[in-house]
Amino acid sequence: MTAAIIGGTGLTSLPGLEITHREVVHTPYGEPSGPITHGVLHGKEIMFLARHGYGHTIPPHRVNYRANIWALKHLGVERVLAVAAVGGITEEMSPGRIAFPDQIIDYTWSRQHTFFDVDLTHVTHVDFSYPYDAQLRAKVVEAAKRAGVDAVNGGTYGATQGPRLETAAEIKRMRNDGCDIVGMTGMPEAVLARELNIAYATCAVVANWAAGVTAEEISMEEIGLNLEVGMQRVRDILGELVPL
Ligand code: HPA
Repeated sequence: MTAAIIGGTGLTSLPGLEITHREVVHTPYGEPSGPITHGVLHGKEIMFLARHGYGHTIPPHRVNYRANIWALKHLGVERVLAVAAVGGITEEMSPGRIAFPDQIIDYTWSRQHTFFDVDLTHVTHVDFSYPYDAQLRAKVVEAAKRAGVDAVNGGTYGATQGPRLETAAEIKRMRNDGCDIVGMTGMPEAVLARELNIAYATCAVVANWAAGVTAEEISMEEIGLNLEVGMQRVRDILGELVPL
């Protein structure tokens, strides 16, 4: 049962991963964000891919989500834990905190968002009522408990286009829509995993209060500091989680 971690901003490499080799995969959809890293984490084999490239150079709207997911599927991956930096909208989603969302609202546009696009023998619709895999989510929630990390179990992830942050009015609208956190990479990554029958869950790291939640503007320095705190928590969770 093969698992992979897709690392986002703040997680371009996986601490503690003993790398065995890196594998370049060419896909029908173009090139993934980088070679897939194969390694051993806490004694278990796992794959890793840095969503924005290992040098963190690919912005959210330019990530080749289809190539990334296809490459992992091609290598036999059956479960993906996505780590993603987000802004906090609702009260409990405070900076530095970890959240495991259970719903998504997609505000992105013009991204390549499906494998079922052209040259089809029949039109295909996937069920996406519950976008995250329940079993994998439960496993991650339990691992956080064991690691002593105070994480939020649930919440709606609003996926925005980026790379700019949102306006205060956009966040107000998202709050009214029911979003708890906001990020730029959750879609189409989650649905592409679903289309290829890969169990997918997200570990969100709150990097900042979303626009207009507090009186202050968002500073990149603050994001960096909160991500450092949050990523240490992610590492603690991964320590309890593997094998995924
Ligand atoms: N908005 C969107 N994506 C983000 C944010 C945000 O405030 N913080 C980290 N990723």
